Amino acid sequence: MWHPEEFLEFLKGRRSIRSFKKEEIKEKHLQMILEAGRWTPSASNRQPWEFIVIKDREKLQKVSETTVYGKFFKLAPLAVAIVGKPSESPNWYQVDTSLVSMQMMLMAWALGIGSCWIGSMDREKAKELLGIANEDYLLTILPLGYIKGNIPKPKLRKSLQQVTKEI
Ligand SMILES: Cc1cc2nc3c(=O)[nH]c(=O)nc-3n(C[C@H](O)[C@H](O)[C@H](O)COP(=O)(O)O)c2cc1C
Repeated sequence: MWHPEEFLEFLKGRRSIRSFKKEEIKEKHLQMILEAGRWTPSASNRQPWEFIVIKDREKLQKVSETTVYGKFFKLAPLAVAIVGKPSESPNWYQVDTSLVSMQMMLMAWALGIGSCWIGSMDREKAKELLGIANEDYLLTILPLGYIKGNIPKPKLRKSLQQVTKEI
């Protein structure tokens, strides 16, 4: 087990990564990232999600074109789309799948694999390309790749005083 101080440093050290080596993701690493997603907590343990691993280069390229700030991810060796299922948990599917994303991004970071939440996209077009059912929600597509170049400097965070109050 990590020392808690080390764990905090690990959390603080994660960055969104937008530049990837060409190197394929090792299958064991991919499985660990998916496994971290599978073990995410969810409301009433409904696990209202599905993960789509996108390895096909043409598909990656096409899906990246549906994004607003994610065109860079066509150069990632793969990406994982995280899909929420409102039919399985109408009130919590967005929260639960957001937690999945965080768990996957942290697992990836521990393996030296960079990722970045891709938020804005033409969801209808992306869903069609990925064969996602109409009623399901495409939360994000996480590109995954071993980190190329320097790790970006930390983005400024609000101070704890700004965001915390004790009562
Ligand atoms: C909900 C959400 C949507 C995001 N959408 C995008 C995106 O479309 N493209 C992108 O490059 N980064 C996106 N990001 C990454 C943020 O820009 C990034 O997390 C933030 O600037 C803090 O940087 P850090 O992750 O390196 O700490 C998104 C992050 C979140 C949580």
